Amino acid sequence: MTYSIPKDFLWGGAVAAHQLEGAWQTDGKGPSIADVMTAGANGVPRQITDGVQPDRFYPNHEAIDFYHHYKEDIKLFSEMGFKSFRTSIAWARIFPQGDEDHPNEAGLQFYDDIFAECHKYGIEPVITLAHFEIPYHLVQKYGGWRDRRVIDFFIRFATTVFKRYKNQVKYWMTFNEINNQTTYTEQFLMATDSGLVLEPDDPKSEALMYQAAHYELVASALAVKIGHEINPDFEIGCMLNVSPLYPATCKPEDNFQALKAMQRRYWFADVHALGCYPRHMEAFFQTNGFRPDITAEDRVVLKEGTVDYIGFSYYNSATVAAQENNPEFHFVGPEAAQENPYLQASDWGWPIDPLGLRYSLNWLADHYHKPLMIVENGLGAKDEVTAEGKIHDDYRIAYLKAHVQAMIDAIEKDGVPVIGYTPWGCIDLVSAGTGQMSKRYGFIYVDRDDKGNGSNKRLKKDSFYWYQKVIATNGKNL
Ligand code: BG6
Repeated sequence: MTYSIPKDFLWGGAVAAHQLEGAWQTDGKGPSIADVMTAGANGVPRQITDGVQPDRFYPNHEAIDFYHHYKEDIKLFSEMGFKSFRTSIAWARIFPQGDEDHPNEAGLQFYDDIFAECHKYGIEPVITLAHFEIPYHLVQKYGGWRDRRVIDFFIRFATTVFKRYKNQVKYWMTFNEINNQTTYTEQFLMATDSGLVLEPDDPKSEALMYQAAHYELVASALAVKIGHEINPDFEIGCMLNVSPLYPATCKPEDNFQALKAMQRRYWFADVHALGCYPRHMEAFFQTNGFRPDITAEDRVVLKEGTVDYIGFSYYNSATVAAQENNPEFHFVGPEAAQENPYLQASDWGWPIDPLGLRYSLNWLADHYHKPLMIVENGLGAKDEVTAEGKIHDDYRIAYLKAHVQAMIDAIEKDGVPVIGYTPWGCIDLVSAGTGQMSKRYGFIYVDRDDKGNGSNKRLKKDSFYWYQKVIATNGKNL
């Protein structure tokens, strides 16, 4: 056993279809939930409109037009030395409405082309099946994942792409950041995770969230099982948003609140990885009167479809304190949040905490004993282009350097099995949370602004050359 970065480590980058492809109606694609999300800003939430409104701006419609630039972009990834490229398959390109019997051949062909281009450079695709882009028709007609029939539609989609890309794709993930919806008071998180379009104060939100999440977990387990039947070499993982919750003080109540918050945010991983609901969730449902439709057959499916690895995003940690009016330490999210005085934050207020990544890796390894893949990490920041067309993003390099070092420490000193690192938004793209282009994560700059103006020209940032060196030395030279 060696405690070092494996030789075949999946260094790469990550994106999601709706945030970069554009071409929202091209070659038969149907609209997805992301196509009815307007542009927001820092502190201004995106709105989910009732269908596409002619007078509103929807940044995902064109995004960075990867649909027509993918050859150029994948070539740039290969120049950085990528071993892997994480993207999603837009469900609505394959099944434009979501509930059709037959797929859209032009949509399937697009991903054939993407994967062929990746393999030309020895880049392994890592594919998310559902990344915030449920077909909008399923939202309108079925109310999203609250309806059990959506499991069948998802499985039809998953089976179609598993069969089609059986020899092109080995690494898959089912639902992106499935646990975001823990914060069921946030409309955006409910809509993107589960296609549930609700008012923030809807009294049914919490119950609907447990129901939708359960159907997703069943769909995920079925997909894992079917995927392994189609190709036993498939590695199929889950995908969690991991932001460890620290207690604000050493007061026992704050510690217990942090523990309860961890349970409430990460039980999804227990179901994915261990194949059953943790006892604390069963007890929570019982004592709080939640009765989600969970059948005996579902429980068998969950047991049979446990994931091969845990994929997760890590951007920051969070800090919580107990509240006097909350004697049972319930946790939704914002109500318990505290500022952490020991951490600096990004311009968008996200605390910067590299050690939190090492903490998360240790925590996940301790709980689940599965290989881990860091499938998102990065700093959203404003970039300036100099007169010479350079982008000196030393702040991004500093963030990534510290986080890669934390990952290496977890591998070498803590023995955590990490199989890949794909930082988020390896090319600038539309921010999911705000719809902005100016919240940039990329190694590659894209000339496009928040209003959709720009040439779409790609430029290499300083971080491009930094990451190239990191990959070439397998993490030795940071
Ligand atoms: C994750 C998502 O929440 O974080 C991505 O999986 C998203 O889709 C990323 O883009 C960064 O968040 P944001 O809001 O800065 O785009």
